[in-house]
Amino acid sequence: MTSHQLYFFIVFTSLMFMFISSPCSCVEYDGATNLPPPKHNDNVNLSLYYETLCPGCAEFISEGLGKLFEKGLISIVNLRLIPWGNAKIVEPNKTIDCQHGEDECYFNTIEACAILAWPDQPKNHFDFIQCLENRTLRGPIRDRKEAWLTCCKDLELSPNFIKDCYESGIGRLLELKYGDETLHLNPPLEYVPWVTVNNKALREDYEKFVEYVCGAYKGGHVPEACKSLSKPAETN
Ligand SMILES: *[C@@H]1O[C@H](CO)[C@@H](O)[C@H](O)[C@H]1NC(C)=O
Ligand SMILES: *[C@@H]1O[C@H](CO)[C@@H](O)[C@H](O)[C@H]1NC(C)=O
Ligand SMILES: *[C@@H]1O[C@H](CO)[C@@H](O)[C@H](O)[C@H]1NC(C)=O
Repeated sequence: MTSHQLYFFIVFTSLMFMFISSPCSCVEYDGATNLPPPKHNDNVNLSLYYETLCPGCAEFISEGLGKLFEKGLISIVNLRLIPWGNAKIVEPNKTIDCQHGEDECYFNTIEACAILAWPDQPKNHFDFIQCLENRTLRGPIRDRKEAWLTCCKDLELSPNFIKDCYESGIGRLLELKYGDETLHLNPPLEYVPWVTVNNKALREDYEKFVEYVCGAYKGGHVPEACKSLSKPAETN
């Protein structure tokens, strides 16, 4: 086995175990396979629930969300990107039905694989996802594989892991897991992009996420991004 294959085998086994051992159809999300370890216990959890071909999501990722990587904000944030949005799991075979069709299911899975590829490096998987989302804003994608390969090339990231993840079916399992998490959100997701800060849904205020993150942060390493805010938003 190559190291990729071994890695996929381990991930596959643990994902299967989570599905099988779950007492109900709701899989407990423990994030063990694809979450960066929390940097400090008082870091703020910011999650973006989105789907890859929704223009509002693509705009937010390619413009607003980049603020996370300015003035040290990322140092107090556990970022999670959950590429699922309004997709549905269709029984009996758990096929996935995406709001914007087959291409969206494809790109959701590719982005899930990118997150798995660089779990501890939000900047890497974020850059990749930002590149791909930015690409979707610039007109129809005729060659979907070429689109993400170009992002790998531009960012000097190896495409092999993503390719293996997609082709092995791991990507699909990751998607089912993201789907399960999204479908069990409390409060439920109403539209995309849907941003939560420490589980609080920001709703229409999602573009002001910096204020919410700074307002929610109780730790002692206040980054420049928060110091330069005049009035932090109340988060409760
Ligand atoms: C998105 O693409 C445009 C070129 O079409 C570029 O000017 C812009 O900087 C890109 N934005 C990001 C965040 O990559
Ligand atoms: C579900 O899978 C079974 C067995 O592979 C197949 O016979 C059936 O046609 C599938 N159903 C749908 C709706 O795809
Ligand atoms: C952030 O998420 C982690 C992992 O799920 C959890 O242990 C922690 O309690 C969360 N923090 C807050 C402030 O909600």
